[in-house]
Amino acid sequence: VVTPTAPASPTSVVDIAHRGSSGAAPENTIAAVELALRQNASYVEVDIQRTADGELVAVHDTTLERTTDVEEVFPARAPWRVGDFTLAELRQLDAGSWFSDEFAGERIPTLREVVDSLGRRAGLLLEVKSPELYPGIERDIDKELAAIPGYLTSAVAAGRLVVQSFDHESMRRFHDLQPAVPIGLLYSDRPDESDLAEAKGWAAQINPSYRVTDAELVERVHELDMTISVYTLNDAATMRAYRDIGVDGIISDYPDVLRGVLYER
Ligand code: G3P
Ligand code: CA
Repeated sequence: VVTPTAPASPTSVVDIAHRGSSGAAPENTIAAVELALRQNASYVEVDIQRTADGELVAVHDTTLERTTDVEEVFPARAPWRVGDFTLAELRQLDAGSWFSDEFAGERIPTLREVVDSLGRRAGLLLEVKSPELYPGIERDIDKELAAIPGYLTSAVAAGRLVVQSFDHESMRRFHDLQPAVPIGLLYSDRPDESDLAEAKGWAAQINPSYRVTDAELVERVHELDMTISVYTLNDAATMRAYRDIGVDGIISDYPDVLRGVLYER
């Protein structure tokens, strides 16, 4: 059986901060990662894409206008695709003010900065976002993680790294490159028997939207020796409901609320 890969809470449900502690800080920034750490999150999820000069950065949308001031800084560069900008250009953007003035000047971080910020304090749930836009990104991520002294071996041994994506072919490629790293498959629609049969044997985690998850699916995933983490649960009542049907992990914008629920009995 693939076990949950983080320090167990009393209910053994792993708490995962979605895009950092993104309910209270700007998503996918070091401020959001550090807040999640201060809130004792067991895992932090971030979305990884690639710049025009091949750097790996944490951004959710494939364009920059929702979470930065790119329209003011680079007005002529519409449609502001992440992959059309160099890292030096992305560094000029304010990735915090859209959220609140308190976070003005927050920058888009690199994957390496996220890993360094986490240290050994929390695990990393690394989502490969829209890999079809970034051919070869699986190899880039593997190389980047492997280049961090001591990171891959110790993170895998300690259960502090999972790589996930909605793009399951990308995850198959990552698994073939780096079979030691547990893989999560994201689903917005309910995975059916053929999806689960395809995942069994190489994927460690089935990670669906909570909207398509029920006790029957949880049981079936467990029968197939995989774990199941659901996204994105932001109120305590919904967190309790999914805790009680036996999910292995819960992904939330409010990791502080989530920890409260997991420790309440
Ligand atoms: O980790 C699950 C969740 O992050 C997937 O959806 O759109 O927030 O990346 P999204
Ligand atoms: Ca994500």
